[in-house]
Amino acid sequence: MKLTLQIWRQESAQAKGKLVSYPIDNIDEDMSFLEMLDVLNESLVAKGDVPVEFDHDCREGICGMCSLQINGEPHGPDRRVTTCQLHMRMFKDGDTIVIEPFRAKAFPVIKDLVVDRSAFDRIQHAGGYISVNTSGKTTDANAILIPKENADKAMDAATCIGCGACVAACKNASAMLFTSAKVSQYALLPQGRVEATTRVQNMVRQMDLEGFGNCTNTGACEVECPKGISLENIARMNREFLGAKLKG
Ligand code: SF4
Ligand code: FES
Repeated sequence: MKLTLQIWRQESAQAKGKLVSYPIDNIDEDMSFLEMLDVLNESLVAKGDVPVEFDHDCREGICGMCSLQINGEPHGPDRRVTTCQLHMRMFKDGDTIVIEPFRAKAFPVIKDLVVDRSAFDRIQHAGGYISVNTSGKTTDANAILIPKENADKAMDAATCIGCGACVAACKNASAMLFTSAKVSQYALLPQGRVEATTRVQNMVRQMDLEGFGNCTNTGACEVECPKGISLENIARMNREFLGAKLKG
């Protein structure tokens, strides 16, 4: 395939960025999107040019590092896949592909296609954990009965990889889908109920402090989420939050 890539280049957080056009040839449809970018970078390095910076780690859809806005969609045109799992067969010979970083005030650009998503880490630190007494009087996990439906929903929520596509997809740059997944994975399990009241309040407070917008139920986050995290989690987080406020 022969393609034209329009890639966001920005030297630093302070620099002004712009789209730069790169023609690219000999792209196999079985390549992943990141392998295609590797080919581009090898040719840039061979010419003495600066390669394009982009985030990646596992390249298996697990770590949540890859985060590209491809033709206006977080993780590109395929569904339920991350950028590293996107294949070039989703594009046609002669296509122009616009590649930008995720856009949100709370995700400032560091360089080119790399954004700072540490806001998500701070939301996690605010309450996305359970405290367990490991001093010796522990209860065997198998002795705690959990309804199958709750276990399944908690597991589904826990598949959120923190990629940030939900924020990039949202017209309000809301982090409600991410935060609600992290709240839900504990709210549904007895181990998570101990700190449930403070967890939801602290995580929502941090989410607001980071400058994410509010949810207006558009649902773009759910459509673009590579892990199929359901909007149901946002409804659960709202109920948890209201319940916590009423408890004072
Ligand atoms: S909810 Fe989905 S889109 Fe948002 S961070 Fe988690 S996995 Fe990514
Ligand atoms: S590189 Fe890890 S999810 Fe894409």
